Amino acid sequence: PNTESLNVAVVGTGYVGLGTAVMLAYLGHHVTGIDIDERKIEMLRRGELPIYEPGLADLLHASESRLTWTSDYAAAIPEADVIIVCVGTPPLPNGHPNLRYIAEAARSVAQNLNGKFQVIVNKSTVPVGTGDWVTRILEDNAPDYHANRYAVVSNPEFLREGTALHDSLYPDRIVLGSASQEGIERLRQLYRRLLEQDFTPPEGVPRPAGLARPQFVTTSLNSAEMIKYAANAFLALKISFANEIAGLCERVDADIEEVVHGIGHDQRIGHRFLVAGAGWGGSCFAKDTAALISTGAEYDYDMPILQAAVDVNRHQRQLVVSKLQRHLHRLQGKRVAVLGLAFKPNTDDLRDAPAHDCITRLMELGAQVVVHDPVAMEQARREWSHLSYQEASSAYDAVRGADAVILMTEWQEYHDLDWEQAVASMRRRLVIDTRNVLRQLPSDTVLEQIGRRRVQETHAL
Ligand code: UGA
Repeated sequence: PNTESLNVAVVGTGYVGLGTAVMLAYLGHHVTGIDIDERKIEMLRRGELPIYEPGLADLLHASESRLTWTSDYAAAIPEADVIIVCVGTPPLPNGHPNLRYIAEAARSVAQNLNGKFQVIVNKSTVPVGTGDWVTRILEDNAPDYHANRYAVVSNPEFLREGTALHDSLYPDRIVLGSASQEGIERLRQLYRRLLEQDFTPPEGVPRPAGLARPQFVTTSLNSAEMIKYAANAFLALKISFANEIAGLCERVDADIEEVVHGIGHDQRIGHRFLVAGAGWGGSCFAKDTAALISTGAEYDYDMPILQAAVDVNRHQRQLVVSKLQRHLHRLQGKRVAVLGLAFKPNTDDLRDAPAHDCITRLMELGAQVVVHDPVAMEQARREWSHLSYQEASSAYDAVRGADAVILMTEWQEYHDLDWEQAVASMRRRLVIDTRNVLRQLPSDTVLEQIGRRRVQETHAL
């Protein structure tokens, strides 16, 4: 096709698929989102989103005329110039990603190819070698292999939940791995507006000042697959490094915030992803570090640096409760308010959230746990039904009468709380801020942060 706008099929309507579908429709392409989950498709047809992501609903409505939703591959694949696979790759118990959904999607795509040149793009995070494997599935399942022409391209996704729109519209780079030049050229066409930043920024997602155009990085299929894992592993490593240094800061009376500020000015290091806290969570870092280590194991290759990053992260999560014990000693019967359940702000995603481990441990120790989250409470009711905590309808309600507050997720709402009022209603005035976001609390409050000199040291509780 020579026209500017392409027909695109996006397979899988999770965070990545939905963000991608809506973004491409916004850029002017005609996009059909496919999902075997008919409940999700019904919701999307009604204009509702199955996930929470800031700004996505507005962009969905703005691009509605170019978006179609279906559970039927046959209704979308034959028309598509580009087919983007965004299905989940959840971890198996051995750390290896489960590729079942990729295989099923590839088979369904294969059976509906149209015999003209089509590009199958993989955006799901998959181990190195999966692109070649998908190519074989296509060969085996396409009705008439010789009549079908297609290219397989790996196009890893680097968006973060909570800032998905910003990350998709203003990416640092677009990575494409393929042996097919024709495939790469079609995707250059797909992403032309992004590459040239030739679009009107949607309301609420302004273009950052001084933004450089995204880099167009073309590689082999295997390298593109490796880039995704190496990027996430490196980010996880940075956070674990900051957490490890934070632990030493606490012991030598230094302050991690000052240290990171100081080292970050070295452009080789930078400030980002060095915020110490309760450890990383979310659906990606744990899964991707485990997958990389497990790939190493397949080749009898140890990855001690990555393993250490994972170990530091596990330890970091336990730290929160030990800080509490240092002040309250036995936690049996103590009332502990947990503010924030989601693994980070602006999402309702609970996957691998540090709050889960913290609440579990508190309950094992006999504490009475009261929780609040601005968005993720309902999700938690479904996914964490094995935890018997109490729900509070506001942060103030959670805090009232508590022996301690643990701030787990740095929602703006908690930052903006009237802390004077909040701590005044506590039984004991102890606040563990696992995100190092709180500044001045009333002077009779003990404020503990991660890797910082005791921000507020006062009399015994
Ligand atoms: C991460 C990557 O940042 C994305 O580039 C990637 O595309 C995505 O995984 C993915 O593979 O799909 P995400 O999981 O949405 O994105 O979340 P992040 O914003 O990276 O945060 C991960 C965790 O690290 C959170 O628990 C966050 O609180 C924690 N974190 C982050 C820190 O503890 N310190 C920091 O300095 C930064």
